[in-house]
Amino acid sequence: MSNITYTTLSLELCQPVADLVDICFPDMPDIDKYDRDDLRAMYKAFSEGTIIALDGDRPVGMGTGIFVNLDFDNLPPTENELLGSDEHSAHNPAGDYYYGSDFCVHPDYRRRGIGREIYNRRKAVVVRHGKVGFAAAAVLPGYEKFKHNTDIHAYLQMVKSGEAFDPTLSMQMRNGFKLIRPIKDFFTYPRSDNWAALILWTPEDAG
Ligand SMILES: CC(C)(COP(=O)(O)OP(=O)(O)OC[C@H]1O[C@@H](n2cnc3c(N)ncnc32)[C@H](O)[C@@H]1OP(=O)(O)O)[C@@H](O)C(=O)NCCC(=O)NCCS
Repeated sequence: MSNITYTTLSLELCQPVADLVDICFPDMPDIDKYDRDDLRAMYKAFSEGTIIALDGDRPVGMGTGIFVNLDFDNLPPTENELLGSDEHSAHNPAGDYYYGSDFCVHPDYRRRGIGREIYNRRKAVVVRHGKVGFAAAAVLPGYEKFKHNTDIHAYLQMVKSGEAFDPTLSMQMRNGFKLIRPIKDFFTYPRSDNWAALILWTPEDAG
């Protein structure tokens, strides 16, 4: 198996990372995905918040994030509004939370611990900067099979109890994230009828 190395975002990596995002989210509309220019803006605002996994010089995994103040009961209606008009403008160095805006590993490289390592490095950013926690909205690919006959709350309980497996949310729970609640239309994700799960990790969860 090849050696994977990790780095933070650089200008040169913006295009290949955008290509990776396209491969990982084939059914997400462009407006809800990072492109090269969004990533360049991210680089300028807070390159430390974006972790890239490399096989040689080729990106095979990525996790992005910015600092924001969050009120979980009054989130902006869409993730794009939370992130700002050009993806980076909402970055607030004094914000209480790290908000993980994107996260993916190339399909050929999954199940090797790359996602876990990207999480560990983003959690280290949270701790290093003394933030309250790491929040994200998780896509729910596993809901595709259940959405016609199972309510979203019931589905999330099934994932939580281990009765159902969600390729994204189950992995996040194994990485210490706790479920806050389902959210709808935060971004476009047809596989789960645009349902997502608001999740949170705090340094206390690390034990
Ligand atoms: C979610 C994703 C980033 C995980 O990346 P990954 O590199 O495969 O994850 P890891 O190999 O680090 O797995 C971490 C843990 O989750 C478990 N896991 C991950 N995928 C799993 C799967 N399909 N089935 C069972 N367990 C799984 C691993 O066993 C591991 O647990 P362990 O360390 O306790 O053994 C990747 O599947 C992906 O890119 N999915 C598509 C995009 C996406 O959904 N992104 C999330 C947006 S919110």
